[in-house]
Amino acid sequence: MQIPHYLMNRHYDDRYFDVVNAIEEAKHIFFDGTQIINRLANNKQLNIGETGFGAGRVVIALMDYLEQHNLKDVSITYNTVELHPITISQMTSILEDFKKPVGHLIDQLVQAYSSIDTSIQGWHRMEIKKPFGKIEINLWIGEALEMVNALITPCDIWFLDGHGPKKNPDIWRHELLMAIGEKTVSSGAFATYTVAGAVRRSLAEAGFTVQQRPGFGGKKAVLKGMKG
Ligand SMILES: C[S@@+](CC[C@H](N)C(=O)[O-])C[C@H]1O[C@@H](n2cnc3c(N)ncnc32)[C@H](O)[C@@H]1O
Repeated sequence: MQIPHYLMNRHYDDRYFDVVNAIEEAKHIFFDGTQIINRLANNKQLNIGETGFGAGRVVIALMDYLEQHNLKDVSITYNTVELHPITISQMTSILEDFKKPVGHLIDQLVQAYSSIDTSIQGWHRMEIKKPFGKIEINLWIGEALEMVNALITPCDIWFLDGHGPKKNPDIWRHELLMAIGEKTVSSGAFATYTVAGAVRRSLAEAGFTVQQRPGFGGKKAVLKGMKG
């Protein structure tokens, strides 16, 4: 199948995400993988970290997931990073396929994204209010390690969603994964779609107990881990 050009990140010659079922894929890999619902049952406040923001598909999937679980009074801080921010019209095109199931969520994210100036490096804050509670998105424009170093509060969970390690080894480099381990609370977790050996080894060295679990769609296996 020919991938539409707007779904490809030209900096890495890679897709922003799996084209088919990307919303459901995010729920399986990231939210089931880090047991978000159990965590929110214990504590309504969750501090999330993500490497790379891209078009915000994971944020959209998260809002949809929280709506489906009928949650209330949730307060999420969502720290994320983007080295190559896209334009609003790129974001709209990339998310177009999900308009039918989650159009109302896309509209809210696009509106929030329109309120920030992505030509300025560093933190940008966007707040989205929903019946389930609120999501404060702190988007760092710049390099992932800078964002991790700039975090004051360690994260409860991490979604590692950079481009594949072969196309973009930088976002999986040892130094960065070690820093992510340091900026994770005890009993915190990560989830990612890649099971690459070097990534597994770095995450283990960063303090996570790393485990493979069944994948989604075309992916045989994905990865999750818990910090002891
Ligand atoms: C696979 S895409 C992310 C998809 C995104 N989570 C979504 O669902 O729309 C990875 C993103 O990470 C960004 N990125 C790659 N390397 C980076 C780095 N070293 N620091 C910050 N962002 C980076 C890319 O530009 C891209 O937008």
